[in-house]
Amino acid sequence: MTKYGSFPGARPRRLRTTPAMRRMVAEHRLHPADLILPAFVREGITSPVPISAMPGVVQHTHDTLRKAAVEAVEAGVAGIMLFGVPEDAKKDAAGTAGTDPDGILQRAIRGVKAEVGDDLVVMSDLCLDEYTDHGHCGVLDADGRVDNEATLERYAEMAQAQADAGVHVVGPSGMMDGQVGVIRDALDQTGHEDVSILAYTAKYSSAFYGPFREAVGSSLKGDRKTYQQDPANLRESLRELALDLEEGADMVMVKPALPYLDVLAKIADAVDVPVAAYQISGEYAMIEAAAEKGWIDRDKAILEALTGIKRAGAHMILTYWATEVARGL
Ligand code: PBG
Repeated sequence: MTKYGSFPGARPRRLRTTPAMRRMVAEHRLHPADLILPAFVREGITSPVPISAMPGVVQHTHDTLRKAAVEAVEAGVAGIMLFGVPEDAKKDAAGTAGTDPDGILQRAIRGVKAEVGDDLVVMSDLCLDEYTDHGHCGVLDADGRVDNEATLERYAEMAQAQADAGVHVVGPSGMMDGQVGVIRDALDQTGHEDVSILAYTAKYSSAFYGPFREAVGSSLKGDRKTYQQDPANLRESLRELALDLEEGADMVMVKPALPYLDVLAKIADAVDVPVAAYQISGEYAMIEAAAEKGWIDRDKAILEALTGIKRAGAHMILTYWATEVARGL
């Protein structure tokens, strides 16, 4: 060995020497337009209600929701995903409030559209769990099981109600078989062929949805394991992906994000449609809680998690920090 041979032949550290150098060679960077803000709007309240398990996130009134939408536009955020929280008295077995033209979500869509028009991509959660008194994402059969076909009929009606209200994108999140195809048909048959479908393609049955259940005042007892995917499965996601694309999904999503980056990477490699990832309520809560205890650096942890999701292949990221992060970029 020569004298120089005793030194490393390659020194990756050279490209890490200064912030400017690191910035130059960064392979991925976040942009405000990568981000989509999920937002909750609740019926029958006059001021925003904080969600205790999601510090910094609230259930909006119509007015504060419109304000949040304007702030998102100003920060350069790409879109907003709306979730409606009806009054408890309006919940029933069929989730009727979900298809009422004057239901909370339909009114929120109209309000946000009136405020921001096409400056923000307005999206809506297309699922029954926020509106059913039993809290499941579909309607139940006589044995108390979620009835796939009966639920699809309700989803078709929801799609029309949301599209009539002016939404740009619907996000079916209930994991019923055939939901994307039925929703596509319903939209096309009602003159809404321009409304897109962001399919929750790989949606896992996750403990990390915990804080969301508070956010929407869910009455669910039990779990969603007969329709959401088992965390143990990866290949199953590719099957769901093929079905969603065949049925007409314009964009596909993986959810949750951080514990499922392998699924995200596989799906992003496999498709030519935009891929979204949803950094869900529990992912938000974990970082906020650890930061509150002084155990991690909040802002760095947020950016690291989001960068990791982007690196894994997400073109769009739903995150409750969307506006804050977009402002800081
Ligand atoms: C179902 C839905 C859920 C979330 C988004 N859409 C809850 C669930 O499937 O139990 C979770 C989002 C989050 O946890 O941030 N309508």
